[in-house]
Amino acid sequence: MSDSLDIERLRGQSWIRSIEYHDSLTSTNDRARAIALEGEPELPILIVAQRQTAGRGRGQNRWWTGDGGLACTLLFDPQEPGIVPRYQAMIPLAAAVAIVDAVAKSLAGRQVGLHWPNDVFVAGRKLAGVLVEGLPDGRQILGIGLNVNNALAEAPPELAETATTLAELTGSVQDRTEVLAALLWHLESALGQLAANPESLGRRADQLCLQHGRPLCLRSGSQDVRGICRGIAPDGALVLETPAGYKYYYSGVLVHDAG
Ligand code: BTN
Repeated sequence: MSDSLDIERLRGQSWIRSIEYHDSLTSTNDRARAIALEGEPELPILIVAQRQTAGRGRGQNRWWTGDGGLACTLLFDPQEPGIVPRYQAMIPLAAAVAIVDAVAKSLAGRQVGLHWPNDVFVAGRKLAGVLVEGLPDGRQILGIGLNVNNALAEAPPELAETATTLAELTGSVQDRTEVLAALLWHLESALGQLAANPESLGRRADQLCLQHGRPLCLRSGSQDVRGICRGIAPDGALVLETPAGYKYYYSGVLVHDAG
């Protein structure tokens, strides 16, 4: 099976207005920002890179993109699918749900799900991550990194223990064009669901949440909050049962969440 990306095929079948492909970029999110600052291009635009030299994760994290992985960013206007401002904070969660749906078929029999706020995990290892950055005018930069055929042996050593790839999980090289086509299809659907019925998207995310019942520690501002995870609320909040009762968190970083 070929590992090359057939961008023409993706152009033919997707709801995306245009697709930019690059052999190498610092970060597809950075490229999306540069395009947005150039003016008012027709959206959505998808930027795909074979390699990223400075891929970014949430917070101070980096994102390693080896050959054979998928790194892409959608630059879009959330008003176009009709996502109201109050629910735009759930865009990363919608993207994570779309990733789960896109890979579920090839991972049949495996439990693939979410770690709040928007990581995709299988068998205790991270398969994909999402980095959404909003622009002041409301346009959104939605970056997705998905480990497909990239070799973890070439990754920074710490990833060997914590990450996984579709190829590793299935035992065979995956068709990245099909994976990306499925991802785009499910992304359109999840963003549409977020527009039409945000709470149903939140409930779906809760069903996919793999952290139910686990002790978690959330760094929220300067505080560490410990509690038992009671899933994801319909509005996207992380629900923690703490000694002071159920608490709802819309931001923060999970610490010691080994998966
Ligand atoms: C995370 O897990 O912390 C988020 C990782 C997001 C990585 C993707 S790869 C495509 C896009 N470009 C970037 O620089 N980051 C995102």
